[in-house]
Amino acid sequence: MIIAIDGVSGAGKSTMSNQLAKTLGFQFVSTGMFYRAISLNAIELGISPTEEDRVSDMLQNISVRIGKNYDGSNICFVNGYDVTSQLIDPQVNFHVSEYAQLPKVRKFVRNLQHTQSTLAPNSIFEGRDIGSVVFPDADLKIYLTCALEVRAQRRTEQLKEKGKQPVYKDVLQNLTKRDFEDRHRKLSPLVVCEDAIVVDTTNLTQDETLQKLCQIVEAKQTYEKICSRQLCLAKNSELKIETKKFQEKPMCKCTKVYTAKDFGL
Ligand code: DC
Repeated sequence: MIIAIDGVSGAGKSTMSNQLAKTLGFQFVSTGMFYRAISLNAIELGISPTEEDRVSDMLQNISVRIGKNYDGSNICFVNGYDVTSQLIDPQVNFHVSEYAQLPKVRKFVRNLQHTQSTLAPNSIFEGRDIGSVVFPDADLKIYLTCALEVRAQRRTEQLKEKGKQPVYKDVLQNLTKRDFEDRHRKLSPLVVCEDAIVVDTTNLTQDETLQKLCQIVEAKQTYEKICSRQLCLAKNSELKIETKKFQEKPMCKCTKVYTAKDFGL
């Protein structure tokens, strides 16, 4: 089963997806990490997002891998080095959406995501275009949203907890810029898929959000069970008809007369 969780920056996608994955025992992939890792590498090499050819050359020589930390969160390796703590550097925060707009970067990351999905039977992918582009056939699509000011406040607290010294106004400005870029880029803009369930976390605590997400997954799984049961019942009734036909007109092959029983029907 693949669950796609998309939404605006700072709506709690990463935290909530991670907790949901832990609760369900699913693989969790925070796909923004791929874009951040590529941006970090480009910044370190002095390649600007406007130099598309140089970014493209860089992608030929980079290996990006996402693994699982002891607490279930993601760790990211670039060319074998753990770069996780650098992925939230202000420079990366500021420029990541510019690198993420480049078609070659998006294609590169899409392939990485498809490969990652083969590593576990059940996964939660969290990002911006997971339901719309990367896994349009995802079993469940959730769109997380939240008021801008609340997101800025939460992100400021998060950065403080990580030992950074953020200024609320800068965080708010950065989120505004990223919202605009994510929604207005030509390729894979952030959209609410028609078949996505929208969850607004503005007035929800983490526990309440997790509870809501679990309820949605449970409802979906129950729905799937009912559907597959109905399908099974429908198939069984078809089989019964087929079986009846078989029994009425047994197939003759050489000396043996085949009946439905020979086919386990
Ligand atoms: O979720 P995040 O803040 O770590 O994402 C970092 C950036 O990566 C964000 O500005 C948009 C981009 N991104 C994207 O374009 N598509 C995704 N599936 C995930 C992230």
